[in-house]
Amino acid sequence: MRPLDFLGSIKLKLGVVIVAAVGVTVVVVLLGERAGLSPIVTGLAAAALALALVQVLAHGMTYPLREMAVAARAMARGEYGRRVTESSLDEVGELGRAFNRMAADLAEVDRVRRDLVANVSHELRTPLGALRAMLENLVDGVEPSDAASLDAMLQHVERLGNLVEQLLELSKLESGAVPLARAPVGVGALLDRVAAEWRPSTQARGIRLELEVDPPDLVLQADGARVHQVLANLVANAVRHSPDGGRVVVRARARSGAVALEVLDEGPGIPQAEAERVFERFYRSDQARSGDGGAGLGLAIARWIVELHDGTIRTEERTPHGCRMIVELPT
Ligand SMILES: Nc1ncnc2c1ncn2[C@@H]1O[C@H](COP(=O)(O)OP(=O)(O)OP(=O)(O)O)[C@@H](O)[C@H]1O
Ligand SMILES: [Mg+2]
Repeated sequence: MRPLDFLGSIKLKLGVVIVAAVGVTVVVVLLGERAGLSPIVTGLAAAALALALVQVLAHGMTYPLREMAVAARAMARGEYGRRVTESSLDEVGELGRAFNRMAADLAEVDRVRRDLVANVSHELRTPLGALRAMLENLVDGVEPSDAASLDAMLQHVERLGNLVEQLLELSKLESGAVPLARAPVGVGALLDRVAAEWRPSTQARGIRLELEVDPPDLVLQADGARVHQVLANLVANAVRHSPDGGRVVVRARARSGAVALEVLDEGPGIPQAEAERVFERFYRSDQARSGDGGAGLGLAIARWIVELHDGTIRTEERTPHGCRMIVELPT
């Protein structure tokens, strides 16, 4: 039982405890005098009763502080599951609530870190395992070292290289070590450059890559290389998920105080339920996971870049099917 939990301040609680102790002392002394007891006996009795009362009333006032000390030591050992009692309404209770929130946040950070390590190891292990198997076959002479098998190995090495590069990129973005070189960027020319990189692979699959810039002389105040990277990621996804012979549109429009960049495709689209999750590191839909897609870092990187520009990125489903990625950057 914590009789003073309802009081909202430590000062008030201490006041109540002092007044109660003094009151008890006075009452005991008066009663003792009336009963004709010696002052020493009444004095001792009054002190004992006052102490007992303080024990009852002050019970639990500092308990959360001791709990916090224990929990903090547990946290230092990597245990984030402990919580402290937060029933009191005073400053100690407030501290307890803040402590519990901090513990929950730290637990989440720790979980994300573990997931990241697990994901990274998994992503590295897959191509490494494949490479190793291929090399073993070559060494054992089970497979000839012809152009095809060397090319397959090269692809695994490239995938590993890309993954390491993306991870470095993401960690640089997250640590805030990427200064933005903002300057006026001609949107039309930027889209042309992105499209030029993708033309060979889209043409090979009969995909039409169309650009729309309205107004044609649209200018954006941003880090051109970073915005290029965002668009390249979005176009890569659109092309990857597009059916052969489909249409991918990259559109830029002026909005009030912003420029909206959209990438549209006619692939299966992203279901509403996954619309937020696709921007998480390593998130891939099950379908993409089974294929030979990327690691699931492209959109996480894109979101970081957009947010560094104080912009937003989101996805919408298209009818009858397809994906629309919308980036809004303030001008
Ligand atoms: N245009 C799209 N159409 C359908 N699904 C998409 C589209 N763009 C992204 N997705 C889904 O979102 C997931 C995450 O995309 P993201 O770009 O982050 O990773 P990735 O393309 O799989 O790999 P990476 O970009 O690292 O090479 C994809 O795996 C896919 O499931
Ligand atoms: Mg991608």
